[in-house]
This record gives sequence, C-alpha cells and structure tokens, in this order.
Amino acid sequence: MMNEKLLVVKDLSVIYKTDEAIVHAVNKINFDIGRKETIGLVGETGAGKTTTALAIMQLLPERTGRITEGEILFKGENLLKKSKNEMRMIRGERMSMIFQDPMTSLNPIVTVGDQIRESLDIHNHDKKNKIELEARVDELLKLVGIQPRRKSEYPHQFSGGMKQRVVIAMALACNPELLIADEPTTALDVTIQAQVLALMAELKEQLGTSMIMITHDLGVVAQTCDKVAIMYAGEIVEQGTARDIFEGEKHHPYTLGLFGSIPDLEVETRRLNPIDGLMPDPTDLPPGCKFHPRCKSCMEICKHKQPEPHSFGNHIIVCHLYAKEV
Ligand SMILES: Nc1ncnc2c1ncn2[C@@H]1O[C@H](COP(=O)(O)OP(=O)(O)OP(=O)(O)O)[C@@H](O)[C@H]1O
Ligand code: SF4
Ligand SMILES: [Mg+2]
Repeated sequence: MMNEKLLVVKDLSVIYKTDEAIVHAVNKINFDIGRKETIGLVGETGAGKTTTALAIMQLLPERTGRITEGEILFKGENLLKKSKNEMRMIRGERMSMIFQDPMTSLNPIVTVGDQIRESLDIHNHDKKNKIELEARVDELLKLVGIQPRRKSEYPHQFSGGMKQRVVIAMALACNPELLIADEPTTALDVTIQAQVLALMAELKEQLGTSMIMITHDLGVVAQTCDKVAIMYAGEIVEQGTARDIFEGEKHHPYTLGLFGSIPDLEVETRRLNPIDGLMPDPTDLPPGCKFHPRCKSCMEICKHKQPEPHSFGNHIIVCHLYAKEV
C-alpha cells in the first residue's frame, strides 16, 4: 500500500512491576509515523519516552517491563505477535535505536571498526564476503564523517562527538526503515550537538529513514521534527505537526508550561521550561487529568474526570478546556 503508515502505535500501555509497586509508565498512547517522517517525543524526565521506545523495539527489561495493552503495527503487522527470533530479525534489519547514553553502547576494548563490523555481521544474513564487509564498514564511517583509516582505533581515542558518530554508524548499519534516537545529543556540547543533528538530518534525507526523536530540547525538535507528541505521566497530552506545536494558537496547559512562551521555529536551542510542582508518582497516579495538581487552568471537572482528546484537524489536545461543553 502506497500510503500505509510505517509505524502505528495504538492504545499502548506499559507497566514495570517491581517488588514494591506497579509503575504505570505508559498509558494508552496513540501515534503514527509515515515514511521519511520524524516525530519528536517531548516531555519532562519520567514522562515515559524511553519506555515507549523500548516497547516498540521490544527491549523492555524482561523481568519487570510488560506491555499490558495495545498494538504496535510496523508496516501493518503487529510486532506484539512476533516471536523473539522474528523480533531479533526486525531489529537487525528494519529498525534500530540510538540509546540515551550512547557511550555505554560502545565496548571500550573493541576497535571501532570491529564494532561496526559486528553490527553488520549480525544484520546481514546473506553472508557478505570479507571485502564487501570491509567496504561497507568504510562506507558507513565515511557517511558519518569519520576517516576509514581510524577504524583500528579504540573508542577512547575518539572525542564525544566522534563516538556519537560511531554509534550512529552502528545504528545505520542495517539501513533501518525506522531509527529511534533517544536524546542522541544530550551528552554533547552545543557545537558538536549541532553537527551531529545536521548529520542526522542529512542522513535522513539521503537514506529516507523515518525517525522517532526523543529530546528535552525544543530547538532540536524545531530543527528535526515533522510532528511532535508531548508526553506527561505516560500519556500523550498534545500532538500535531511542528507548525501546530510551535505556531498554533491552541495548546495543552502543560505544553504552554514547558515552552514558557511559544517560541518560533527559528529558535536554535532551548531547554524546556521548569514547571512548578512535580510529575505525579507513576505508582499512584491522580484521578481525572494527571496534570491537574500542577495546572493553572484546573477546573472542578479536571479533578475527577479524565479528559478526552479534542481534534483540530491533525492537532490533538487532551484537555477539558477544549470540550465544547464542560
Ligand atoms: N526498569 C524500570 N523499573 C521500574 N520503573 C522504571 C524502569 N524504567 C523506567 N521506570 C519508570 O517509568 C517511568 C517512565 O520512565 P522513562 O525512562 O520511560 O522516562 P523518560 O521520559 O525517558 O525520562 P528521561 O527524560 O529521564 O529519560 C518513570 O517513572 C521511571 O522511573
Ligand atoms: S484537563 Fe484541566 S487540569 Fe488538565 S490540563 Fe486541561 S485544564 Fe488543566
Ligand atoms: Mg529516557
């Protein structure tokens, strides 16, 4: 199908079961990604962004993490129905993830070239011969702006930004159709951050990869995302095109809080605005709207009734303020 979505996440809920309690990390979220599209997942720490990514990759911690409801459709097929082996193949060939702390993705005692080669080895089932494999390693290094002769070096011989490029090269080794980048530039200083982002945008253009970009930085969102989903306490409280989020007139009170004021799309880098109060305890979520204890616009109904999503075209806001009758 021509306009089939690459990824559709439907009513997805994820819990972590610890000895003490059940953590409701992701609660009934819905979003989709088209081909070559990038969606930004934005929200304060603990909002459920990484959990969403791990659920899609099916890399939740085995003993504690569990998807309790929903569907994850990748090219129309529900990933939750796949076997472990099938998922391993899908992860190797169709989707990959750059983890939140990329420095931990690199093995300090293995050369950069060997690490990229390893990701190629696992991912290529058509048993490429050695020369082809070497050529592909060189090609990947060049793609991310590293000279191939450096492949015999170890991670510690690379700067932070260069290490991040190696991690990106590893994630791209399988030519993924979907790349999930979990805060890919947070550990880097601003100049390097800009370089890595520019590189990712260029690669996306060149390779046609769809992306989920998880970030705290509104500047990163403005620079890289077609669509944006704002997460709070495991829910998506607002989503729309980047234009809806940055230039729209209607917003969820949480989004307004995060933005401080609505910035324009030209903004370069901008951290989220701190909001008074804390995210609720995910083992004991409040009734009604999860944001109500911190919301300046809170009404009586918000304290006991969960708001419905209200759509303005593709722009969706989950808040009682936008109900026709409250
Ligand atoms: N392995 C785990 N066991 C128990 N609880 C967990 C586990 N991993 C995450 N959580 C909890 O699940 C909730 C969502 O966490 P998650 O890591 O998805 O948030 P996040 O939005 O990625 O935050 P950050 O911006 O800090 O990376 C948090 O309350 C977190 O404490
Ligand atoms: S539903 Fe009520 S408490 Fe929640 S964000 Fe909207 S106005 Fe605020
Ligand atoms: Mg995270």
